[in-house]
Amino acid sequence: MNRANPRCIVVGAGGISGAWFPPLLEEKVEIAAIVDLRKDAAEARAKQYGLDCLCTDDLDLALRTTAPDFAVDLTVPEAHADVTVACLQGGAHVIGEKPMAASMDQARRMVAASERTGKLYMVSQSRRWDRKHDSIRRTLASGAVGDLTTLCCDFFIGAHFGGFRDEMDSPLILDMAIHHFDLVRFLTGLDAEWVYCHEFNPKGSWYRGDVAAVCVFGMTGGAVFSYRGSWCSEGFHTSWNGDWRIVGTNGTLLYQGDADPRVQRVAGDEGFHRPLEEVAPVPSDLEATGMHGALLEMLRFLREGVRPQTECHDNIRSLAMVFSALESSKVDGPVRVKI
Ligand SMILES: NC(=O)c1ccc[n+]([C@@H]2O[C@H](COP(=O)([O-])OP(=O)(O)OC[C@H]3O[C@@H](n4cnc5c(N)ncnc54)[C@H](O)[C@@H]3O)[C@@H](O)[C@H]2O)c1
Repeated sequence: MNRANPRCIVVGAGGISGAWFPPLLEEKVEIAAIVDLRKDAAEARAKQYGLDCLCTDDLDLALRTTAPDFAVDLTVPEAHADVTVACLQGGAHVIGEKPMAASMDQARRMVAASERTGKLYMVSQSRRWDRKHDSIRRTLASGAVGDLTTLCCDFFIGAHFGGFRDEMDSPLILDMAIHHFDLVRFLTGLDAEWVYCHEFNPKGSWYRGDVAAVCVFGMTGGAVFSYRGSWCSEGFHTSWNGDWRIVGTNGTLLYQGDADPRVQRVAGDEGFHRPLEEVAPVPSDLEATGMHGALLEMLRFLREGVRPQTECHDNIRSLAMVFSALESSKVDGPVRVKI
């Protein structure tokens, strides 16, 4: 990158773009264009943030006339593949919102485009850039609970969205579980090898499709990840991050209700219940959180060539957990997680 400040275009000026403009401006990224099928939405965002930039519904024009270092793809999941591939082919690196794509075929096409063009494509999984999550990852990596054996995440929320989620086939697995599936990979450093998923639509549900699921994943190294989730569950909501219990050969890490994570581990080798001690988690030193944290990884790549953790070859493994779970539910049996 030759410019003092990197130049980007933002594609998609809907709801989530409101979380991206502030960190882009704070990091002094030049926003050369805002592209949206609804040109008025692009213009409204430019006005809101006082930007004198091209506002258009023509992505090719924006790429040609502004020659950005990178594009920020904030479109709907069904558009991610076309938009991201066009940007990569137009010479820009891409940072895109989760989920990577609306199908594995689309995701593979995006990875192939990144390889063909030599341009980087990374996905923003905002929950990775969270100080508690970063602390859990460091704590588990330090061996505080020993080798990981049993990973559990519960997600129970009564969510009355109205709109497209009420009509989707698999709203929980497709629209929400990607966060928890990516999180288990981030927290533990383990990958999913197989899955058995049962989706269902609980009695009294206000959704048309299956909005609840129980999944069992076999992870690398033999650990088992059990995931129970529902978006149609009234009372005693869990955190949106899920409530976690992570068990290792020597202890347990508990992360519930977004409270600080706690670790208990064995402190002696006698007794029916072994004596336990509580130890402090390893602190996080994350510079920035959420979308800002993701953006910093793109900027570090541009300046120093450091590859972001959610580069597409890695993130497709999280997406594969989603689509393999759906396949398992459909065939009503365990399936390999295929990338
Ligand atoms: N990280 C998070 O926690 C989080 C939260 C909300 C949304 N998201 C993700 O952000 C993305 C966008 O969500 P949103 O809530 O902003 O949606 P939205 O519907 O509010 O906005 C999407 C915008 O993209 C535009 N668009 C669609 N196709 C396009 C195309 N081909 N070219 C140009 N513009 C196009 C639409 O006109 C719309 O303005 C989704 O992938 C969603 O999953 C992430």
